[in-house]
Amino acid sequence: MKQSKLRVGLIGAGRWARMAHIHGWLRDPRCELAVLCDTKVDVARQAASEYGISEFSDNWQEIVSRKDLDIIDICTPSQTHYEISEASIEHGKHVLCEKPIAYNYLQTSALAKMAEEKGLKTKLGFTFRYTPAMRYAKQLISSGFIGVPYIFNGYEQNSQFLNPDTPLRTSQVKTKKPGLNVSSLEGYGAPIIDISNWWMGSPYTAVVGTMRNFVPERSIRGLSGYHKVNIDDASMFIAEYQNGGIGSIQTSYVTIGNFPGVEARIYGQEGAIIVRTVLEFSVPEIIRTATPDKVEFKQIEIPPEFFPSDFMEGEDMNHTWLSNLVSNFIDEIEGDTAKNEGNFDDGARVQEIINAVELSFEERRWVTLPLKSNLE
Ligand SMILES: NC(=O)c1ccc[n+]([C@@H]2O[C@H](COP(=O)([O-])OP(=O)(O)OC[C@H]3O[C@@H](n4cnc5c(N)ncnc54)[C@H](O)[C@@H]3O)[C@@H](O)[C@H]2O)c1
Repeated sequence: MKQSKLRVGLIGAGRWARMAHIHGWLRDPRCELAVLCDTKVDVARQAASEYGISEFSDNWQEIVSRKDLDIIDICTPSQTHYEISEASIEHGKHVLCEKPIAYNYLQTSALAKMAEEKGLKTKLGFTFRYTPAMRYAKQLISSGFIGVPYIFNGYEQNSQFLNPDTPLRTSQVKTKKPGLNVSSLEGYGAPIIDISNWWMGSPYTAVVGTMRNFVPERSIRGLSGYHKVNIDDASMFIAEYQNGGIGSIQTSYVTIGNFPGVEARIYGQEGAIIVRTVLEFSVPEIIRTATPDKVEFKQIEIPPEFFPSDFMEGEDMNHTWLSNLVSNFIDEIEGDTAKNEGNFDDGARVQEIINAVELSFEERRWVTLPLKSNLE
């Protein structure tokens, strides 16, 4: 039975859930974070007590099948996302899931279709879509500020793992095959590829890329000593879009610079926009614009409507961004339109591009998209 507030079950009460997701749900009066679940029951209990959540559990299967929950939020390690998302959709839940849903884009597509057929909304943890500056930029693009888009340049890079003593998560070191395995391209590439899709408003038609490993031995969470890791800790690719535009993407977690390190630039016939989401001197992000008659880029104010209504200057940027994401998701669930941005379909598109760049690197060639037709 439909409750007056949307009831949410959050699965995976680890670091990112506490840093970001929980704050988004607690802030929106239209929902109630009803239960926290973690296979480590002490983690679930501790988080529930810390955030005043009445219930906790260590059994995700039981959570996704509960009839009194409307939304499942999945914040578990990446390799579990597909199974938990699939079960949640099967049980009729709207799903927010951290990226990636699956390493194979076809699996993500299949879940997107399944959710759509059931009239359910889905959302990926594409956090950077929901920063005030990125959303303001998108509104400027949609209102015609840049005119015809020519070029997109995107980066997610920082020095988070430059020091080999900083342990990588096991999900970042899936060394399944000889040669380089995808790591920064997937973890850091996904958010900025998503923004390029969103801003350019046109599908990718071809990519060519390369990957590198600069730090060959490093520590890994939960393991002692150093380990050889045949993963890309940096990648770079160029792309062509259906609308005639071109683009480039660079990802790395061993390039000097602060977290999160996302920068997106779009150049059009009538205007250009740069958003820099890099925490520098306590400023989480800036937006700069230029036009043909005023070619010097100028920082502009982000209007208040792009921030949570109770935004407080200096608040944790992850809280702001996840609050925007949650608020947007609830608007979509409660709205009577099919609107559903940053959904599993968008996730599949991003994953397809990652898979295509990997193929391009392995075969040293341009790869055309859609990927399926390329593989046939
Ligand atoms: N969008 C972003 O900007 C962003 C940032 C950080 C992390 N992430 C993603 O968030 C996810 C979680 O990352 P994290 O750093 O919080 O990891 P974490 O290891 O700190 O937390 C994951 C938690 O999930 C629990 N867990 C594992 N399997 C489970 C299951 N089947 N059911 C219930 N609980 C289970 C673990 O016990 C752990 O407490 C990852 O996919 C990561 O890539 C996204």
